[in-house]
Amino acid sequence: MDERRDGFVGVMDSGVGGISVLRSLVSELPHEDFRFFGDSANAPYGEKDESQVLSLASNVVERFLADGAKAVVIACNTATSVAAASLRAAHPDVPIVGIEPALKPAALAFPHGRILVMATEVTLRLDKYHELARAWGGECEVVPVPCPGLAARIERGGLDEPDLQGMIEGYVGRYAGHVDAVVLGCTHYPFVRAQIARALGPGVRFFDGGAGTARQLRARLTAEGRLSGRGRTGRVEFASSLDTPDEMALYRRFFELPL
Ligand code: DGL
Repeated sequence: MDERRDGFVGVMDSGVGGISVLRSLVSELPHEDFRFFGDSANAPYGEKDESQVLSLASNVVERFLADGAKAVVIACNTATSVAAASLRAAHPDVPIVGIEPALKPAALAFPHGRILVMATEVTLRLDKYHELARAWGGECEVVPVPCPGLAARIERGGLDEPDLQGMIEGYVGRYAGHVDAVVLGCTHYPFVRAQIARALGPGVRFFDGGAGTARQLRARLTAEGRLSGRGRTGRVEFASSLDTPDEMALYRRFFELPL
């Protein structure tokens, strides 16, 4: 077996959120083997201090590399902002692909529009986000909307329950009728896109970083001769730091949910 081509791609998040990205990865690269790890025992990352997020995310990535991953996707905006640069510096020989809020396509689609960027507190605090807003914000009005508690609530499942809808109204209800686009800048949030749309009213466009991350992974694997040469459909495996049957059932359910 040629490890560079036939090894697996490790995909990590603080929990179930990264499964929204995993779905884009599988659809873009159906012949690859993916191993997903959700650090649900330590979620949410977005409300921890940066040194904790750095150490938690680095541990997961280091474990993938020790197990022979041919590439890693940090399917978490928060962990990408905090840890991607140092992990890439420590492992220049392995593609490490991150995710960032999809502000660029949103701003290109609505150059004079009002764009909400929903994300964790850590993501919206760090330089990476401010640089992104400076680079692509241009003439539009970019409104950062931190959503403390939302990722942790999504981790618990029950996405149709009224408390979750109420929580979302609390973050974005005041913008209803006055928004062109929403950037889902946390990988948990695509799972509640419909609930956010309900809170904001009709005509709002949504952007997330899943498809862009998948294209980026394809480009890196291609450039480095690491695309799988197998003809068969790849395997997708799930693991979690919260390793209970209920949690693993939740991961599989999120993998199947309509988005
Ligand atoms: N899913 C993560 C993100 O994209 C973070 C959620 C959390 O653990 O706070 O930012």
